[in-house]
Amino acid sequence: MMYLYGASGHAKVIIEILEMMGIPVAGLFDDNSTVTELLKYSVTLFPDNFERENNELIISIGNNKIRKELSLSLNGRFGTAIHPKANISGRAVIKEGSVVMGGVTINADARIGKHCIINSNASVDHDCVLGDYVHISPNAVLCGNITVGEGVHIGAGAIVIPGVNIGNWAVIGAGAVVTKDVPGGITMVGNPAKRISGL
Ligand SMILES: CC(C)(COP(=O)(O)OP(=O)(O)OC[C@H]1O[C@@H](n2cnc3c(N)ncnc32)[C@H](O)[C@@H]1OP(=O)(O)O)[C@@H](O)C(=O)NCCC(=O)NCCS
Repeated sequence: MMYLYGASGHAKVIIEILEMMGIPVAGLFDDNSTVTELLKYSVTLFPDNFERENNELIISIGNNKIRKELSLSLNGRFGTAIHPKANISGRAVIKEGSVVMGGVTINADARIGKHCIINSNASVDHDCVLGDYVHISPNAVLCGNITVGEGVHIGAGAIVIPGVNIGNWAVIGAGAVVTKDVPGGITMVGNPAKRISGL
């Protein structure tokens, strides 16, 4: 059975993908005990006796750091959710825990790490390599041969030109056009993208 951890709007999108895939959602977990239901699925606190062997989890939380912390502490088996209307190369690799929303394109030899979010209508072109816990927001465009480090957040509608390397935990603002390598831990915005904060 598939469970989700995190009863948010992001979880609603994942639930609908799982429904389209024909994968039954057994329920959701959330640390907020006042949330009891999402889209008619029951929401409970994560049980101490969760049966890890026979169940799979998807961490349905948009924050990359929280997804990382939870994935390490839960030590479970993680599923994936891939929208039937995503256009994914048979030569692409998508690792456990990752979710791919509707309208996404992932082209040949792209590799998507664990617990990533490839959000609605984003595109990840050939030979891109994404680390774990990355979020590519709606309508963002990664051209070919880009490397994206662990925990990077690429904002909605951002464009990254071919061959760029983006360091771990960097943040790219919505609508940015990234033309050069980005060091880890910094935030870049604008066209061409310039640094606004970071280490
Ligand atoms: C880049 C971002 C992370 C910065 O957030 P922040 O650190 O809180 O920065 P602030 O809002 O304090 O803005 C700092 C400055 O950068 C500017 N700025 C912020 N985001 C910008 C963007 N995307 N493009 C251009 N300028 C931007 C602000 O106008 C502000 O400028 P000022 O100092 O001249 O007033 C955020 O604005 C952003 O774009 N996030 C992406 C959100 C997204 O796409 N989410 C998708 C969810 S599915």
